[in-house]
Amino acid sequence: MIILGIETSCDDTGAAIYAADQGLLAHSLYSQTALHRAYGGVVPELAARDHIQKLLPVVAQVLRDAGVKRADGVAYTAGPGLAGALLVGASVAQGLARAWGVPAMGVHHLEGHLLAPMLEAEPPDYPFLALLVSGGHTLLADVRGLGDYSILGQSLDDAVGEAFDKVAKLLDLGYPGGPQVAVAALKGQGGRFKFPRPMVDRPGLDFSFSGLKTYTLNTAQGHTLNPQTIADIAYAFQEAAVDTLVIKCRRAWQQTQHRRLVVAGGVAANAFLRQRLDAASAAEGVRLYYPRAEFCTDNGAMIAYAGSCRLQAGATQAGGFSIQPRWSLETLQVP
Ligand SMILES: Nc1ncnc2c1ncn2[C@@H]1O[C@H](COP(=O)(O)OP(=O)(O)OP(=O)(O)O)[C@@H](O)[C@H]1O
Ligand SMILES: [Mg+2]
Repeated sequence: MIILGIETSCDDTGAAIYAADQGLLAHSLYSQTALHRAYGGVVPELAARDHIQKLLPVVAQVLRDAGVKRADGVAYTAGPGLAGALLVGASVAQGLARAWGVPAMGVHHLEGHLLAPMLEAEPPDYPFLALLVSGGHTLLADVRGLGDYSILGQSLDDAVGEAFDKVAKLLDLGYPGGPQVAVAALKGQGGRFKFPRPMVDRPGLDFSFSGLKTYTLNTAQGHTLNPQTIADIAYAFQEAAVDTLVIKCRRAWQQTQHRRLVVAGGVAANAFLRQRLDAASAAEGVRLYYPRAEFCTDNGAMIAYAGSCRLQAGATQAGGFSIQPRWSLETLQVP
């Protein structure tokens, strides 16, 4: 069974071809970063219009690269995400599925992120603990199987990726900011600034990053921002954010007894996070699973994979199409 996957939930136009028996055959991504840079953030209407322009060429490319003329099913991100952007992917997916006479399958974007490590050479077995750290979400989930998820903790305000992006903006490090904060922090001196680790003195697995962002803003406003000070602040912010994530993972290992942790979403590409998690997990006998760097951020491959699993498990979707810009992971069903 060959599945075309389509991702258009935000500012990346992604497509991929996944074959149930051969794995990933092709994938392609067009990033809208340059389009939104002038505005310092994603402009929803521009995102939707650009997906209209780019999606069909990206789909044609993966079909060509995979050497196939059509697929046996079309998976698309149905939510959560920007409504206009989701509608473009949903309508193209439904149109292709009708033309080919094959099923279309709406996929939850975060299920795609959670399952992205399954595309790697040594995928985890179910059940596992998942840390999802992206631009829109920060959550710890108990993953018992396909579609069987409980959220153990999540951010009560900003997502950690969003905090990285806002800190980059206030330190004038450019757009998009997460990777720039990580680069700046490489030259930072640990110990000059000590930032708070939010919510670690309270029990539970929830997160909060808006106070840390405000603390970073106040520190930046209290100093002359020369390159060394910027690097030192970036270091202190990154260390506090990463430590908070690691402390909560350790707590979740103790609470759940899981010995497998999947780390996914854009912030999973952060080298400092990987370093600290590697050390903490080794001490606790936990095995870590990451997607390759390009599948940490949004991509069509994770949607093709999740759609393929659902279709193979016999899931069906009624005709017509729907999108769900707001959609809880916990409402998903086991197919
Ligand atoms: N090396 C890095 N260090 C820190 N943050 C990073 C790094 N690379 C990417 N990010 C952050 O990851 C986020 C983008 O990830 P992703 O594409 O998964 O999020 P999203 O799709 O916008 O959000 P969601 O999936 O929750 O809807 C951005 O906030 C970006 O700054
Ligand atoms: Mg995403």
